[in-house]
Amino acid sequence: MKIFVLGGDGFCGWPTALKLAKENHEVWIIDNLSRRRIDEELESNSLTDIEPIGKRIATARNLGWDIKFWNIDIAKSYGYFAKAVNELQPDAIVHFAEQRAAPYSMLGQTERRYTVDNNITTTHNVLNAIVDHCPSCHLVHLGTMGVYGYSKEMGSIPEGYLDITVKETGEDASILYPTNPGSVYHMTKSMDQLLFQFYNKNWNIHITDLHQGIVWGTQTEETSMDKTLVNRFDYDGIYGTVLNRFISQAATGKNLSVYGTGGQKRAFIHIQDTANCVKLAIENVPDNKKVRILNQVSEVRSVKELAMIISNSYGTPIEFLDNPRKELAENDLAVDNQGLKSLGFQPITLTANLIDDVRYIATEMHKNLKEENILNSPKW
Ligand SMILES: NC(=O)c1ccc[n+]([C@@H]2O[C@H](COP(=O)([O-])OP(=O)(O)OC[C@H]3O[C@@H](n4cnc5c(N)ncnc54)[C@H](O)[C@@H]3O)[C@@H](O)[C@H]2O)c1
Repeated sequence: MKIFVLGGDGFCGWPTALKLAKENHEVWIIDNLSRRRIDEELESNSLTDIEPIGKRIATARNLGWDIKFWNIDIAKSYGYFAKAVNELQPDAIVHFAEQRAAPYSMLGQTERRYTVDNNITTTHNVLNAIVDHCPSCHLVHLGTMGVYGYSKEMGSIPEGYLDITVKETGEDASILYPTNPGSVYHMTKSMDQLLFQFYNKNWNIHITDLHQGIVWGTQTEETSMDKTLVNRFDYDGIYGTVLNRFISQAATGKNLSVYGTGGQKRAFIHIQDTANCVKLAIENVPDNKKVRILNQVSEVRSVKELAMIISNSYGTPIEFLDNPRKELAENDLAVDNQGLKSLGFQPITLTANLIDDVRYIATEMHKNLKEENILNSPKW
């Protein structure tokens, strides 16, 4: 298949692009490298030494993989993007190209407005390019479990749609599961959902929305094949996801910083599974009768439980800090992930071996760690 990977230079996009190319798909990465620029703006960095995109692509091509790169800002350069879709006629477009850090989206008005402008316009531009130039193309979007606000109020979180009975009429109905975003970033993902519903209803586009859990881990089978393919590893308080942050703290002799009581339950997935699930979604095209929504999740754990696993393995003390975020101190959570499992997904769950892999990288890359960035999350 010919596949566009939008945001293919990022943490999830790069390993996914390599996985698809290794599976003999023709891969076109489209990225404006904004994530690298945000690192400069925040005086932050990946813990791993990531190579410039040109070098990454050259190595991947030397391994025999059909992969190319196009630098396009999808939010600002609709004409270039639409031209690429028109000329190349992709079978599938995987859309990772959004500003994805909740803390970044809550820094101030510049970041709030940037996150809305960038994320909503990017998604809307992608839909327009498909409608006008390649209507049979399958759009696979990376959404997040975070849109639902983490609660078990309505039972286990289903895959996108909630079956209800309308009190007044007694009629049964299936509605989009209500969102309850906790940050401007999560709000943009909730708005993406409505764009998908409308474009699917009006133009019958094939759409899969993957509601992903928090990703942990760094390397995949493909990124480990050459030093220059190494994936990015965010450890800071703004972009670093919780488990990776704990592991880099353990590897560098710092206490594990748990926000609040650590009773917040979240859904998690390993980076290798991100790539595996996107491949499964692409290779199993849904019909266009409704948007297919799948929960891309391996397991649910509490933040404290994660901290205990690492603390028990490495003897690192746990420190409980005031929670900088407005969120429930404790919550219960259950998530249905039958959809991807029915397509063949076999989740990788947290084990000491896997944590050791990540810890090895964090130890090796200690030289790059900027301690002052570990706890630089804004309060909201
Ligand atoms: N990392 C996670 O834990 C996680 C969890 C759930 C969902 N997701 C979703 O997966 C997607 C990818 O996340 P990630 O962790 O790889 O993020 P990332 O920031 O590492 O990657 C995003 C990429 O998109 C590019 N990009 C952003 N705006 C663009 C634009 N206008 N035009 C072209 N390129 C643009 C960036 O340069 C970057 O390379 C996001 O949409 C995110 O919401 C991630």
